[in-house]
Amino acid sequence: MIKKCLFPAAGYGTRFLPATKAMPKEMLPILTKPLIQYGVEEAYEAGCDVISIITGRGKRAITDHFDISYELEHQIQGTDKESLLIDIRALMEKCTFTYTPQNEMKGLGDAIYKGKALVGDESPFCVILADDLCVNPGGDGVMKQMVKLYEKYRCSIVAIMEVPKDQVHKYGVISGKEIENGIYMIDNMVEKPDIDKAPSNLAIIGRYILTPDIFEIISNTKPGKNGELQITDALLTQAKKGMVLGYKFKGKRFDCGSLDGFVEATNYYYNNIEKIKKVK
Ligand code: UTP
Repeated sequence: MIKKCLFPAAGYGTRFLPATKAMPKEMLPILTKPLIQYGVEEAYEAGCDVISIITGRGKRAITDHFDISYELEHQIQGTDKESLLIDIRALMEKCTFTYTPQNEMKGLGDAIYKGKALVGDESPFCVILADDLCVNPGGDGVMKQMVKLYEKYRCSIVAIMEVPKDQVHKYGVISGKEIENGIYMIDNMVEKPDIDKAPSNLAIIGRYILTPDIFEIISNTKPGKNGELQITDALLTQAKKGMVLGYKFKGKRFDCGSLDGFVEATNYYYNNIEKIKKVK
C-alpha cells in the first residue's frame, strides 16, 4: 500500500496575479473548496494518509487550512454552518500533514527532491499537482486508479491524456508501446516540446506514482528546459533503466493553473455538484 502523497506547491502562480500576490494558487477555490483540498481528498481516497506539502514563501494559508481555526470554529459551533467544515475536519482527523519549503523555484524535479526528507527513500509515493483538478464521477479517482495499476506493475507511473497537437508545448510528452488498453511502456519523454519535436500527443498531467530510486536519479539530473530541474528528464532516465508507465486515466482533468481551465472547472462543478462523489 502507498501511504504518502507529495504535493509540490511552491510555484508562484503568476498566471493568476494579482489573486496570487499574497495567496497561494493552491488555495484558489472551485466553488467553496480550495484546489489543494480536492487534491488531498483524492490522495486519501487512494489510500494515502500522510500528506507532504512542498511550500514556499507566502504559502502559510495552506498550513492554516489544514489546522484548527479556534475562533472561527467556536463562533459557528452549534449552527448550520458547522456542516460546511465536515469534509475538512474529516481530512484533518484522518491524515498527518508535513511541510518543507523549496527555497528557490528550481523546477518540479527539484521540488520533488525536497520531498525526500518528508516521504523517505524506501517506499513508493504519490505526487499530486493540485492545480490539475481531476474528477471521475461515480468511479475511482485518478490517483486510486493509478495505485491499483501500481499494485500490478510496481514501477513509476505517470497519468497521461491526449491533447491537441498545438498544445503539446505546455506539457511533458511521452511515447511508448501500448502494452494494455491505455497503458504505455514509455520509451521517450520530452518536456514542453515544439510541435514538430513532440514524440506524440500524449501529455503528462499532474499525477505521478514514483518509486524511491527517483531521488538518486534526480540528484544526477542536470537542469533542462528553461534551466529548471525537470521531473520529465529524471523519469526518462528511470524509463531507460527499468520501466515507467504512462496511464490514460478515466475521468476529466481541468488545468486550474490557467484561467480557461479554472472557469471550466468552476462551471463543471457547479453544474454537476450532485454527481461528484464525496470522499468519506
Ligand atoms: P506550474 O509552472 O504550473 O506552476 O508548476 P506555477 O509556476 O506556480 O504557475 P505559473 O506558470 O507561474 O502561473 C506546476 C506545479 O509544480 C509546482 C507548482 O507549485 C505547481 O503546483 N512547482 C513548480 C514547484 O513546487 N516548484 C517548482 O520549482 C516548480
